[in-house]
Amino acid sequence: MTGAVLEGRDLARFYTVNRGLFKADATVKALNGVSFSLHSGKTLAVVGESGCGKSTLARLVTMIEDPTAGELLIDGKPARIGDRSLRSQVQIVFQNPYGSLNPRQKVGTILDEPLKINTDLDAGSRRRKVEEMMARVGLRPEHHGRYPHMFSGGQRQRIAIARALMLRPKVLVLDEPVSALDLSIQAQVLNLLMDLQKEMGLAYLFISHGLSVVHHIADEVMVMYLGRPVETGP
Ligand SMILES: Nc1ncnc2c1ncn2[C@@H]1O[C@H](COP(=O)(O)OP(=O)(O)O)[C@@H](O)[C@H]1O
Ligand SMILES: [Mg+2]
Repeated sequence: MTGAVLEGRDLARFYTVNRGLFKADATVKALNGVSFSLHSGKTLAVVGESGCGKSTLARLVTMIEDPTAGELLIDGKPARIGDRSLRSQVQIVFQNPYGSLNPRQKVGTILDEPLKINTDLDAGSRRRKVEEMMARVGLRPEHHGRYPHMFSGGQRQRIAIARALMLRPKVLVLDEPVSALDLSIQAQVLNLLMDLQKEMGLAYLFISHGLSVVHHIADEVMVMYLGRPVETGP
């Protein structure tokens, strides 16, 4: 399809698992024939029970792993591991805001890191970008020098979202981003994500194990079962 920022063509990912000395190795087909296309400003929800391949899809799409078969296109270009310019276009927010942030780094350092590694900006301009992004996700300036453990789960997820957006990606993969949060906080984070999408024209691949969460946010839903899409619709 034309104009998609992210496209999967028959993506598959198999793992070989060793079953011990006296048994042959087995092949786990974590993902087996997944196709989709995602456009700017739109949200594709991927829904399915635990073990159906959602996180595997997230790892392929963020180029953490290569597919066993099939093709991934980012902005119309074939994506392969090691392509740094394409890789920065797709960023990820994980489910667990407690495990995904380095506890020894201050918020300012966490948000500065992607800029430091991937851009030539000087310290002053990086600092301005960090402060802008903090304001955008609802963090206060004094949070800059604080450590992750000093924040609630919802605020930590705001930090993770800010970090994912520092390089201005076109696509954000959200792997169950609110599942670990209290219900009241879930709504706040979902609203933030919808505002950011509108402002920045982001495309979301929103992974969830239930339909209730994606109800408000999704333009299209793909239901997966045992590594395959079983139903796709608005
Ligand atoms: N590195 C791996 N090695 C072997 N099997 C794996 C690996 N990663 C995932 N799997 C298997 O692939 C299937 C899909 O896993 P996953 O993508 O994590 O599902 P979900 O995120 O939907 O819960 C599961 O059966 C899981 O055990
Ligand atoms: Mg998962």
